[in-house]
Amino acid sequence: MINKCLFPVAGYGTRFLPATKSMPKEMLPIVNKPLVQYGVEEAVEAGLTDIGFVTGRGKRPIVDHFDINYELEKEIEGSGKEALLRNVSNLIENNNFSFTRQVHMKGLGHAIHCGQNLMGDNPFAVVLADDLCIADEGDIGVLAQMVKIFDQFRCSIVAIQEVPDEDVHKYGIIAGDDLGNGLFRVHDMVEKPSQDNAPSNLAIIGRYILSPDIFAKIGHTSAGVNGEIQITDALLKQAKEGCVIAYKFRGKRFDCGSIDGFVEATNYVYENIYKKGKE
Ligand code: UTP
Repeated sequence: MINKCLFPVAGYGTRFLPATKSMPKEMLPIVNKPLVQYGVEEAVEAGLTDIGFVTGRGKRPIVDHFDINYELEKEIEGSGKEALLRNVSNLIENNNFSFTRQVHMKGLGHAIHCGQNLMGDNPFAVVLADDLCIADEGDIGVLAQMVKIFDQFRCSIVAIQEVPDEDVHKYGIIAGDDLGNGLFRVHDMVEKPSQDNAPSNLAIIGRYILSPDIFAKIGHTSAGVNGEIQITDALLKQAKEGCVIAYKFRGKRFDCGSIDGFVEATNYVYENIYKKGKE
């Protein structure tokens, strides 16, 4: 059983400056809900009830979002506005939230390593909240799909999608043996390759399930691209042991860490979810 999910949220969010000067990128709203709440809802839908955050300086609003706000809740008690807090209140009541800190922002791999005490010796999911994933109508979410695949393979799973050749330099790119049904057994992966060095155009997006030996592998991984400890480099070590499956997920994904993706997501959610009263 997998029931833990880690949210590394310590990054600086420099592409969104000045908005992110004193506000976490993960609290930017897509219409009226912060990005991080979409991520937590997706995790809970997948059956993950232990939610851990790796925070950093300036990320306090994320911690407060997953706590009660006594004064505000008292103020709107009995009014129609109570309904607006129902989803987040349910998340708080029915799940466990824990927090640790990344003191030096040395990259995503390092941030995940900082979460070791929260995740323990169990397989766990990782969500990068700035990648917003929306399930197709009537379908389950991306993490729920990945949990099913984990149950089948019992090894690390990365979510992938095809990206245009000119975008491969923004992602970790995999090469693998096609197992059918959108599944690949990964044998190579490169972080942010040039177009010439990319082994494919299958890009890893911000959803992972990791087996706990990843912590030791990150511990032995030195800084890579941009001087950061890259999760892709640690995953490559698992892949060389035959233990990484890439999965072309169903559903939509928006790169909300970029301005274009954020605006696209906002328009999509407003038209297809908010206006139709689905939230
Ligand atoms: P990104 O590179 O997309 O986030 O990292 P960033 O560094 O915050 O954004 P930009 O590029 O400056 O605009 C992917 C995820 O990893 C987390 C980020 O918070 C984000 O969710 N992260 C990244 C950490 O927690 N710690 C790090 O040292 C780096």
